[in-house]
Amino acid sequence: MIPDFSERLLRWFDENGRKNLPWQQDISAYRVWLSEIMLQQTQVATVIPYFDKFTQKFPIINQLAAATEDEVLHLWTGLGYYARARNLHKAAKIVTDQYNGEFPHSLEELEALPGIGKSTAGAILSIAHQIPATILDGNVKRTLSRCFGIEGWPGQGKVAQQFWRQAEILTPTIRVADYTQAIMDIGATLCTRTNPQCERCPFAGECPNKVLPVKLISGLDTTKALSIKKYSCSHPRVAIILV
Ligand code: ADE
Repeated sequence: MIPDFSERLLRWFDENGRKNLPWQQDISAYRVWLSEIMLQQTQVATVIPYFDKFTQKFPIINQLAAATEDEVLHLWTGLGYYARARNLHKAAKIVTDQYNGEFPHSLEELEALPGIGKSTAGAILSIAHQIPATILDGNVKRTLSRCFGIEGWPGQGKVAQQFWRQAEILTPTIRVADYTQAIMDIGATLCTRTNPQCERCPFAGECPNKVLPVKLISGLDTTKALSIKKYSCSHPRVAIILV
């Protein structure tokens, strides 16, 4: 157990978190939703030009809904996983027709929209509306599995429940938008799949999977020699100090 996890994560975020991403400006449910769909299985740097193109062409959801599917797919070309673009278009039409262009404010209604799962719904509610709701994307799962020692494949029912329970316990009621961005940022920038930067992590003192520093001997890159890059998300870290 790590005490005051959320407060400490927010302090880390204030100093180190990402605050200038395009979807963090002029925040709205539409922009958060669009970015979260694009960011599924896709890196931030790849998404940015697509996000800019979409928001320039379709500044509001009604305009996206009024486009043809071909137009949407054409703009999406190169981003991959094209089911996301089809679902995006379907969801835009539903929000426009049934919700007057405003995303609903409940998890259940959001999750009923095409392409929106529990984690994306949590991101929309927390980031756009400051409603305490939980996210659990790949970066968050990896961070929680390391910090809280959650073992097993997250796709398995019991393990998934453990992840969600832990993620929900940690979600604060205040500053929930910043917390949501913070938990994603620490996973994306420090608690990375390979070469985690534990020496810069606020939880290194308590993390059961911390990687201790590995020294370089006479120019030999021992991180490569020891294959520490090969950790998967929940395997115990190997701590080796060479002197
Ligand atoms: N990955 C998923 N959501 C993200 C966000 N809001 N910012 C950066 N990376 C993300």
